[in-house]
Amino acid sequence: MLSLTLLCLLVSECSAIRRHKRRMGQRGQLGFEECGDLEKLEAIEPDYYRIEAEGGVTESWNHTSKMLRCAGVALIRRTIKPGGLVLPSYTNAPQLMYYVQGSGIQGMTIFPSCPESFEEPQEAGEGYREQHQKVHEIRGGDIIAIPAGIGYWFYNNGDIPIVVVILLHTNNVANQLGPLPRRFYIAGNTEDEHGEGGREESISGRNVFSGISVNLLAEVFGVRVETARKMQGADDKRKNIVMVEGGLDVIRPEPGSRANVNGLEETICTLRVREAVGSAARADIYVPRAGRIATLNSIKLPILADLQLSAERGVLYKYGVYVPHWNLNAHSVMYVTGGRGRVEVADNNGKSVFDDVMKEGQVVVIPQNFVAVMHAREEGFEWIAFKTGENAMINALMGESSAIRVLPVDVVVNMYQVSREEAQRIKEARDQAILFTLPPFDEEETQGLMAEA
Ligand SMILES: *[C@@H]1O[C@H](CO)[C@@H](O)[C@H](O)[C@H]1NC(C)=O
Repeated sequence: MLSLTLLCLLVSECSAIRRHKRRMGQRGQLGFEECGDLEKLEAIEPDYYRIEAEGGVTESWNHTSKMLRCAGVALIRRTIKPGGLVLPSYTNAPQLMYYVQGSGIQGMTIFPSCPESFEEPQEAGEGYREQHQKVHEIRGGDIIAIPAGIGYWFYNNGDIPIVVVILLHTNNVANQLGPLPRRFYIAGNTEDEHGEGGREESISGRNVFSGISVNLLAEVFGVRVETARKMQGADDKRKNIVMVEGGLDVIRPEPGSRANVNGLEETICTLRVREAVGSAARADIYVPRAGRIATLNSIKLPILADLQLSAERGVLYKYGVYVPHWNLNAHSVMYVTGGRGRVEVADNNGKSVFDDVMKEGQVVVIPQNFVAVMHAREEGFEWIAFKTGENAMINALMGESSAIRVLPVDVVVNMYQVSREEAQRIKEARDQAILFTLPPFDEEETQGLMAEA
């Protein structure tokens, strides 16, 4: 009973903090001016910085590009070999991670005061009893949300490489360190994956412990100086992803225990951080043959209210179209997970700021209110879009309850100077949903297709 009261106190305190943060956020947005003069968007690749580690590769997108600065985000992609372990780290910005493929386990320190809830059964005569915080089973299609400053690690226990794309929202009220993305490792010896720290040769290890004197470290932890040196990672050549010999031995959840446990799931210490947004069953909009869209917001995953982030998973099948639409209240950072599709974006001056065929690995930012339309190629087109608001919403320009559908027909007649019949046709176009199929329709499209091939 006592603990319940305490929990409620904690919860109400948290929502007070949240309200306070929101007020702060309205005043203290960083990097606002960067969006003003976005003349051209471009599809960018993760070619800014690359770290080859023992257990895998980390690549980053150029976070100093105008487009990413406008959205106030930085992105990295990690590819982790089977048996690879990504060393624990935390960042100055909230993160959304999308697992494109693979399977593994991820552990994190949910909140600093929460207990280590995974325990080994007590056996008679044993001195040491292992305890640690919750670990999550993860697989391709999962999104994980991580608050600023919360440490996490993950491990590939599958047969194929894990590919994970990680967004850092640096333009977030939780970040007080300025616009640069910063990752703090608590082990290992690796340069900064965003390309800032790699030059200083004099630093021995580059995790947080290497900035603390080795003797103090040894005394504080009550370990030998030699062990303290290892914590500093001075001679560690493995970098930020290491290989685990013979598999990682951790206490794991029962297989299949991915569901809520007695409604306890949503308390502070067991806050849900994962959602299988990529699975077909999870779609919010599904149009046979055209495609599907799944959205993830703070209503479905409450931790996103604190992070001020949400996401959209889109899959278009052969020649599927996602009708012209805009994001009401967020920027959309779109990473293409597969296939190819033509993406067009228009700004408020009616100018085309983007018209390109995108493919796997490319990123484009669709700024708030800019109008976007996607048209899949023969092989289909799929993406994950990270959105810089807790409950990002879109408004479509056609289809059910779209911006034009809700206008009186005579307003449409006068808007476009068309006949009543034409106005009705515009209003009623594609009456089903925001997704449909449209085969290549004219010479320009067909030529475009041939030029790409
Ligand atoms: C990153 O983007 C900035 C700004 O557009 C540009 O000046 C710089 O050359 C880019 N760096 C790399 C390595 O691409």
